[in-house]
Amino acid sequence: MTTVQTVSTQPYSDQKPGTSGLRKKVPTFQQPNYLQNFIQAIFDSLDGIQNQTLVVGGDGRYYNREAIQIILKMAAANGFGKVLVGQGGILSTPAASCVIRKNNAFGGIILSASHNPGGPKEDFGVKYNVSNGGPAPEKITSAIFDRTKTISEYKILDASDVDLDRIGTTQLGHTTVEVIDCVADYAAQMETLFDFAAIQDLLSRGNFRICIDSLHAVTGPYATAIFERRLNAPAGTVQNGVPLEDFGGGHPDPNLVYAKSLVDVMFKDDGPDFGAASDGDGDRNMILGRNFFVTPSDSLAILAANATLVPGYRNGLTGIARSMPTSQAPDRVAEKLGIECYETPTGWKFFGNLLDADKATLCGEESFGTGSNHIREKDGLWAVLFWLNILAVKKQSVEDIVKEHWATYGRNFYSRHDYEAVASGPATQMMDDLRSALGSMPGKTFGSYEVAYADDFSYTDPVDGSVASQQGIRIGFTDGSRIIFRLSGTGTEGATIRLYVERYESDASKHDQDTQAALADLIQLADEISHLKEITGRDQPTVIT
Ligand code: G6P
Ligand code: ZN
Repeated sequence: MTTVQTVSTQPYSDQKPGTSGLRKKVPTFQQPNYLQNFIQAIFDSLDGIQNQTLVVGGDGRYYNREAIQIILKMAAANGFGKVLVGQGGILSTPAASCVIRKNNAFGGIILSASHNPGGPKEDFGVKYNVSNGGPAPEKITSAIFDRTKTISEYKILDASDVDLDRIGTTQLGHTTVEVIDCVADYAAQMETLFDFAAIQDLLSRGNFRICIDSLHAVTGPYATAIFERRLNAPAGTVQNGVPLEDFGGGHPDPNLVYAKSLVDVMFKDDGPDFGAASDGDGDRNMILGRNFFVTPSDSLAILAANATLVPGYRNGLTGIARSMPTSQAPDRVAEKLGIECYETPTGWKFFGNLLDADKATLCGEESFGTGSNHIREKDGLWAVLFWLNILAVKKQSVEDIVKEHWATYGRNFYSRHDYEAVASGPATQMMDDLRSALGSMPGKTFGSYEVAYADDFSYTDPVDGSVASQQGIRIGFTDGSRIIFRLSGTGTEGATIRLYVERYESDASKHDQDTQAALADLIQLADEISHLKEITGRDQPTVIT
């Protein structure tokens, strides 16, 4: 016999979802009823969940399995008809999006703190995705937050744990829980988009080697199944492919600092021809050639420029979308293709309406996220397959493809400097000071740079008219260069200030300059305008990408 228990509880005041769901340290989630309150707040904020299907899975980090058992029993007590859960509690974020769409699910709960470290004292996260497979829009996340402030009880089924490792169905009261293969639907979709035969041919030529680094995070099983089994790449192509609860103690973040295991393999003269890494939950990607780093903004521009070489995009793109701090390289491709390039606030959720309305086909962010209308999340391995498909057709090196792109469109030198875990007070003060100085900036000159516009980015969604304001300080110069300041919405410790700097160079003879050198005067100027170093007490950023 299973019975529904109604448990009384007290609200917590800190359950406001950030850029991508609720992220906190594991001990915060382990407080009495903390997770239960948030899950009940999600269910209470949704209309018509009775007998519907819910998808549940996570990136395998510490506390994933415990959280899933609680969520399954709460989903059953709240009346869902069916819950699909990935085997072992695993679903990458893009795979969850794919499973939600394929099964016409009502929504999904994804357990991840993305690229943040995992472990008993590290990060955990809960994100709700809606029926299009994408992150809940702000009107839902704010309803959830409002509900967390008044919650007084939650419902949970008194039942034993579900065996998450065995594929098949279990009955939890009136609810059917189905443990599914976490890779199958996703891999099948990839085969419909890309020319697997051409990629297999490229990989079997023997002189083209690749290295895929899963950083001990969720893409391990996906990458092994796709690259080593379906595409016949040699065993060992996927490194760090076993997901660990603490990601082996590292940051599962695919950038030049944290994906050191991949950088070590790729930055040498006899290294592989192509390398890629993904993050904790598999939605981010970093693309490398031999001795060569592809900036995420350039990657989006290059995928867009070459999209018709790939079967799933053979008919061309309806539009491109990029987040505001992403470089303007994709805008140049869009202009040439005669399509729109939308500029949205940071956060994949802002792409959802554009994709649903078929206004954009490809989307991307400077934060190592790229994706398309095939799902409603960014998709790390999709980007890898897209690159490999282009490489298979063009038969050039990664470096040659990028340099040829710059020669055609010009190069947008681009870098992001992060000041992580700084005190919140001074960081907010810095943003406030910048905001008050914006009005007086246009027309001012700093050396050879003249300010064309200065604002706090605000976005009106072209589909539903919703407005998102205060999305980052933009200072644009008459030559197209930009300096942008934002506070991160994904950190769990203090504040993280992000400085984004961009400069356009049309002269191909200057494209080989080092990025930091090419941007040095703008970086200096950013400090003069913001007093970033003085305010944070740091003379160096924590991470430069
Ligand atoms: C997550 C979101 C992205 C966002 C990124 C950085 O990965 O899904 O859409 O770009 O976080 O956000 P932040 O607020 O930390 O700059
Ligand atoms: Zn992620």
